[in-house]
Amino acid sequence: MQKKVWFVGAGPGDPDLITIKGLSLLRNADVLIYAGSLVNPVLIARSDAKTKLDSWGMDLEDLVLVMENAVNAGKTVVRLHSGDPSLYGAIVEQINELEKRGIAVGIVPGVSSLFAAAAALGTQLTLRGVSESLIVTRPAGKTLEHDQIGELSRHGATMVIFLGTEKLGEITKNLNCPPDTPAAVVYHASWPDQKIVRGTVKDIAKKTIDKGIERTALLVVGGVLDPEKWGHTRSYLYS
Ligand SMILES: C[S@@+](CC[C@H](N)C(=O)[O-])C[C@H]1O[C@@H](n2cnc3c(N)ncnc32)[C@H](O)[C@@H]1O
Repeated sequence: MQKKVWFVGAGPGDPDLITIKGLSLLRNADVLIYAGSLVNPVLIARSDAKTKLDSWGMDLEDLVLVMENAVNAGKTVVRLHSGDPSLYGAIVEQINELEKRGIAVGIVPGVSSLFAAAAALGTQLTLRGVSESLIVTRPAGKTLEHDQIGELSRHGATMVIFLGTEKLGEITKNLNCPPDTPAAVVYHASWPDQKIVRGTVKDIAKKTIDKGIERTALLVVGGVLDPEKWGHTRSYLYS
């Protein structure tokens, strides 16, 4: 059998939001490596894997060595990433190292937290007459020197900003869109303790701090959060 490591999207938190293929791989894995606090422990418990390893704090070399040894011993390895692995998942570094060692990979997509946030907000991210485009981005921080939030916000597109909960004040100051543009923060989308804060670009940072939300949230910005006021027109689909 071909040596292979599976990268599987765990979904945003609700353990039932993993794909059927992802769940089947997870259940039958011999070795399960998962990305810490963003993956629901209920999902981990659904796996029969003899080895279950939280990758928090592990460096790339250690991770790859664990995967390599397991695959060489004929074991099935599943690497579980939160949401969808293609967004801020840092899987390419792992894939490159595995391929250098002759180990192939398979990727099973997952439901990103961005879609769980849209569902929680009860809206579309693209909406006729309001925005036909979606920008997914993140602020500068420890692992990113410069961001593009200022320039990207000039287009009137819906924006979803990851990895920025603790710097919402800075982010919203950099946004080049009208201060009354609707904004929302979704904390722990699809988890039982999900919280939603709604406001505008002007006040969303303060409202979020007042609710005590400091991490694991997405900032959504755009007229799609208040469609009637921002020019929503009925889709041709219904004409
Ligand atoms: C390393 S990124 C991983 C994103 C993931 N690949 C995805 O598709 O959702 C982690 C960031 O995603 C966001 N995030 C992850 N899960 C979330 C959730 N359930 N609700 C809101 N934001 C979430 C937060 O901004 C968090 O800081």
